[in-house]
Amino acid sequence: MRSTLSDNISRDIDWWRSAAIYQVYIRSFADGNGDGVGDIAGIRDRLSYLADLGIDAIWVNPWYPSPMEDAGYDISDYRSIEPAYGTMEQAEAMISEAHGLGMRVILDLVPNHVSDAHPWFQEALLAEPGSAERARFHFRPGKGDNGDEAPNDWVSSFGGPAWTRVKDADGNPGEWYLHLFTPEQPDVNWRNHDIRADFEATLRFWFDRGVDGFRIDVAQFLCKDADLPDLNGLKYPTPIPADGSDPVVHPHFDRDEVHEIYRSWRAVADSYDPPRVFVAEAWVGNPKRLARYLRPDELHSAFNFDFLLSPWTGSKLRTVIDSTILSHAEVGASPTWVLSNHDGARHLSKYARPQTDSRVSSLSQIRDIPADFELGERRARAAMMLMLALPGGVYMYQGEELGLAEVEDIPDDQLQDPIWERSGHKERGRDGCRVPLPWSGDTAPYGFSPDDANASPWLPQPKGWADRTVEAQTGQADSTLELYRSALALRRSIAALATEPLTWMSDDNDQVLDFQRGSSLRVVVNISADPIALPDGEVLLASGPLPGDGTIPADTAVWQSVPCATTADSTRSS
Ligand code: GLC
Repeated sequence: MRSTLSDNISRDIDWWRSAAIYQVYIRSFADGNGDGVGDIAGIRDRLSYLADLGIDAIWVNPWYPSPMEDAGYDISDYRSIEPAYGTMEQAEAMISEAHGLGMRVILDLVPNHVSDAHPWFQEALLAEPGSAERARFHFRPGKGDNGDEAPNDWVSSFGGPAWTRVKDADGNPGEWYLHLFTPEQPDVNWRNHDIRADFEATLRFWFDRGVDGFRIDVAQFLCKDADLPDLNGLKYPTPIPADGSDPVVHPHFDRDEVHEIYRSWRAVADSYDPPRVFVAEAWVGNPKRLARYLRPDELHSAFNFDFLLSPWTGSKLRTVIDSTILSHAEVGASPTWVLSNHDGARHLSKYARPQTDSRVSSLSQIRDIPADFELGERRARAAMMLMLALPGGVYMYQGEELGLAEVEDIPDDQLQDPIWERSGHKERGRDGCRVPLPWSGDTAPYGFSPDDANASPWLPQPKGWADRTVEAQTGQADSTLELYRSALALRRSIAALATEPLTWMSDDNDQVLDFQRGSSLRVVVNISADPIALPDGEVLLASGPLPGDGTIPADTAVWQSVPCATTADSTRSS
């Protein structure tokens, strides 16, 4: 079943500029066949839930065949479906059904590396040094008398060296290959013609099946200095000099050559009607470098990790918001906002800790700090209303609409993330944000798997999730799920939120983030620990109860309609 765009999908080719996109982490979303692992059948069963939530698109994490050494980011066939997740027929039906419900579908493309089970890598292992098969990867002889030292000093993002040595046909130690992630994820060589042609064929394969776009995994890593020089301690991102000139060029991070690849992909996406779109996962560390990926002939959008990493403090959030809007405007791009994803501790749990100026990503950074989860949830609800009121697109990670916290106590022997092993059990990794979703009932599997399932969820769910299920929260006016539904519905109905610029109403950022969108909507977020005054105007939505005495409590956000006299024009612009 090939999907054509349904009448329920808007015809606006700029839809992505202000879309609300929901990340479906397929392994943990819903299990349709009872094997304890989420799948396409599970997604299809819950598409109406997503449509009712009020989102515009879903982004599905990799669903291709994979040995699952890195939860599907090690792909052995880019144009097929992982059997544990379903079939191509189910995938095409899902795309079509999502379109029928008015939602677009974005898939995940992993171009920096393939699985070591991919036919290319298997062929390369059997081939000679210097062969065309090996040229698709980065194979090099080792250093030292016996070639038993790695070709350079690069390290894997998951810990340990970025090189692994292979054996020759005679069983003797041979060349080394590069992997910026696990040894089961060999990096491909983007100077190679086969690689370029094949990834474009993959784009077309899925676009032909109605897919609306791709998220691009580690978009900043693809190109490497041909000489593969030692880093000698050089870290990334390399700092931008004070005079604003280009930073020192890094041998494998954010190199200029990557942009040429994205230009050619953009041409492919633009050749479709309607044009397809891209969102980059590009952790480049500063807004100006990120904007280079968003030039008009490159990628459409990129995740805003500065926002995701920002602590819940007014000054840090204000800085990120201003620099994001400015840097995106310079290239005509649309900002995006994101609070959580499948790679870091859930934001509720980060906000449950005292906020410092540091950027927090992983569970290890917070696990030993005492937490106040009620405070965390209050802040998370306010943060969502802040995010949904900012100009641009938003990404929401499954489960945040249920107010899920990071699961911090998964038993050691059940941890699955390769980071746990590769860090020598120092970093617990990302499993805590990947625990299967609770849909209904009082005990695990909380409706994640069908009643007659023959396996438990692939990661254990906590005991206390009965009040977090979709079932328990639906219809409860004060639940986090209903707040998300109300905010998303209101966001769609307020035209100013799609189109109008942001104007700050106060510079007192320690206390409050206070801005208008156009002249009709005011957004006030109390970041401080004390109540602040509620401005005049009708309250359209608040992230928590308002006491009715003219104040906004701590860690609460309010959307208000602006009374005619107090428009942003009569104050000042940022
Ligand atoms: C990205 C993915 C992450 C994966 C890594 C390697 O950062 O989001 O989950 O482990 O790339 O592909």
